[in-house]
Amino acid sequence: MSINQTKIELIQPDDWHLHIRDGEVMRDVLTDTARQFARAIIMPNLKPPVTTVELAKEYRARIQAHLDLLGITDFAPLMTLYLTDNTSVEEVRKARAQGITAFKLYPAGATTNSDFGVSDIKHCYRALEEMQAVGMPLLVHGEVTSPDIDIFDREAVFIDQILEPLRQKFPELKVVFEHITTLQAAHYVRDSSTGGKNTLAATLTPQHLLMNRNALFAGGIRPHNYCLPVLKREEHRLALLEVATSGNPRFFLGTDSAPHSKGAKETACGCAGCYSAFNALGLYAEAFESVGKLEKLEGFASFFGPDFYLLQRNTKKITLVKQAQDIPTELPLGNSTIVPLRAGESIAWSLI
Ligand code: DOR
Ligand code: ZN
Repeated sequence: MSINQTKIELIQPDDWHLHIRDGEVMRDVLTDTARQFARAIIMPNLKPPVTTVELAKEYRARIQAHLDLLGITDFAPLMTLYLTDNTSVEEVRKARAQGITAFKLYPAGATTNSDFGVSDIKHCYRALEEMQAVGMPLLVHGEVTSPDIDIFDREAVFIDQILEPLRQKFPELKVVFEHITTLQAAHYVRDSSTGGKNTLAATLTPQHLLMNRNALFAGGIRPHNYCLPVLKREEHRLALLEVATSGNPRFFLGTDSAPHSKGAKETACGCAGCYSAFNALGLYAEAFESVGKLEKLEGFASFFGPDFYLLQRNTKKITLVKQAQDIPTELPLGNSTIVPLRAGESIAWSLI
């Protein structure tokens, strides 16, 4: 990595948590992602969800067809399966044999298209045992879903009620605590004992590193800053920034860029999800620079993810320059439009 005040050269990053949806919108969002990232973990929360290896293969073929149409040859989608109460041991074995990268746990009702998610983790014990045995990572949306639990507490409660008991029961299972948003999650991942093994990690989004919950209500309600888990207080943002920029390999990049059309966000019951893919790397660079830790960006963005997943690191280099990039107020999204994160503002770092 080489850094000066105006230029950063680093190994090309990957996005370890991404939503690209399906159909023609994929074309628009894939273009943004592939401009920056070499690989991305593709989330399976389609309608209907990607619950089997066969469905994942069909989805991968549709992604590949769009990449071919776009002439993109240097981007690899990494496929995931949506864990359900009924996921079988055979499906886990098949997934391992056929190159599926991970399973995703959505507690039923936690977020967008999670209705088919897990109603009780106990229903998944046999599948989880097999995942542990074959080294298949479990990616976790870490929020309890009970309406009795305050929405700002759902991640912290999930750690005590679900995650820690799960890790006690399956100590060798590789777990990624996705898009963490709280000090409790940051410290849990930082401080948990894994017996020296590479079994626990977390991804961090640009919005949770750059914004606190005030951004949801700045001058009025801000639907484009609404995602799940929802933004938290400033003390949480600071704890996330601390661990992300610490050089600890348990923390790596996952944008959770989650496209929803402008109309689906600006409505009486708007969807959760921030679209950060347009200049995600610029946003991460801004976060790292804010605490004087740009030299830690490459490990977070380019090394710790592949190391956790036991994949090769990329070799190609990319360059970010300190040159303001204006973010459009809207971008095309299929036959609709989308409002990107930081729409109408500028980001200090751009990819050249
Ligand atoms: O804000 C979110 N949007 N959080 C999620 O967990 C899902 C995602 C989506 O798919 O839109
Ligand atoms: Zn997500």
